[in-house]
Amino acid sequence: MNVVHVDTPGGSYPIHIGPGRMDVLDQCIPADATAIAVVTNPTIAALYGERAEAALARTGKRVLRIELPDGEAYKDWQSLNLIFDALLAQRLDRRCVLVALGGGVIGDMTGFAAAVYMRGVRFLQVPTTLLAQVDSSVGGKTAVNHPLGKNMIGAFYQPIAVEIDTDVLGTLPAREVSAGLAEVIKYGLILDPAFWSWCEENAQKLRALDPEAIAYAIRRSCELKAQVVGKDERESGLRAILNLGHTFGHAIESGLGYGAWLHGEAVGCGMVQAAELSADVAGFDRDDVARVRALVAAIGCPAVAPDLGADRWLELMQVDKKTEGGSIRYVLITRIGEAVTRTAPDDAVRAVLARTTQ
Ligand code: NAD
Ligand code: GLY
Repeated sequence: MNVVHVDTPGGSYPIHIGPGRMDVLDQCIPADATAIAVVTNPTIAALYGERAEAALARTGKRVLRIELPDGEAYKDWQSLNLIFDALLAQRLDRRCVLVALGGGVIGDMTGFAAAVYMRGVRFLQVPTTLLAQVDSSVGGKTAVNHPLGKNMIGAFYQPIAVEIDTDVLGTLPAREVSAGLAEVIKYGLILDPAFWSWCEENAQKLRALDPEAIAYAIRRSCELKAQVVGKDERESGLRAILNLGHTFGHAIESGLGYGAWLHGEAVGCGMVQAAELSADVAGFDRDDVARVRALVAAIGCPAVAPDLGADRWLELMQVDKKTEGGSIRYVLITRIGEAVTRTAPDDAVRAVLARTTQ
């Protein structure tokens, strides 16, 4: 088992990474917890619900399950309210613990519910997708979508621990693996040139979920994310670089309707677009843009964006948490392993859209 530590003003906690972690979830439940609510969806419940609950039942505490509908399209206020309905109906008090058993959608919604239920209860992240294991379960961003913008309603709220069972990736569809790999390569591109080159060399092993390669990729991703959120939990500066590809990617997701493209696919394609913009306005090497496009394709993500119309693209990109005073701020790469956040002229963005959409 590997352990990575996250230290933020809002909370410090371990990330445990290894096979079989699902069977020892009881070890993460504080002794004073009064009850445990497992928040999940029918897909994950069918695969891992009983195993997770059997482990949690060893605490001797009451364990209940809350199932939300599966999918990004349901990451909304209505689903969030289903959690509160169940917690209140079952009379869970403020010493209960919520367990997010699922991908980023379940993790983000459970975390947000934990942040506001009775003004804050503890929660445990048990991420079951690669994307959630390398990104969304770490760092305390929680949210639901709004029809006008992705993840617009939420809170910073840290879990008490992150339990990553690498075995569960075996049931993940190949498309979801590719989507998770987009966030993995993102860390190399913004922070770690050696990790980027390693991803280039190991792209096929990663897609095939080679145990050694995927375990290293998860650990390195968690280490890099922990370093960034440890320095800037609330995204007052540095943390924004973790959003590389997201300004373009979120426009794809909300423009096409949540769920049409997977979040990781949109981020992967968005990184190609951000790389193009970086070459035009931030001195990023054109040969390296080709490397970004090639690696995004090699991990199985789309590298050509949908044609939403340039005006609609710009309108969608305005609804971004990095937008300040009406100006869109983009994460740009100056060289592999180094990123900055800044504005770019609309004309430059239109030029990039013209050559990256179809
Ligand atoms: P997801 O949660 O929708 O899961 C993808 C699909 O895989 C779902 O159908 C799910 O039921 C299924 N699934 C989950 N685990 C499985 C398993 N082990 N075997 C088989 N099927 C499984 O999608 P995701 O990619 O995990 O997360 C995307 C979400 O994460 C987006 O809403 C995004 O905004 C959010 N996100 C948040 C952060 C953050 O910092 N909080 C970071 C990145 C992404
Ligand atoms: N996924 C972006 C962040 O956690 O800041």
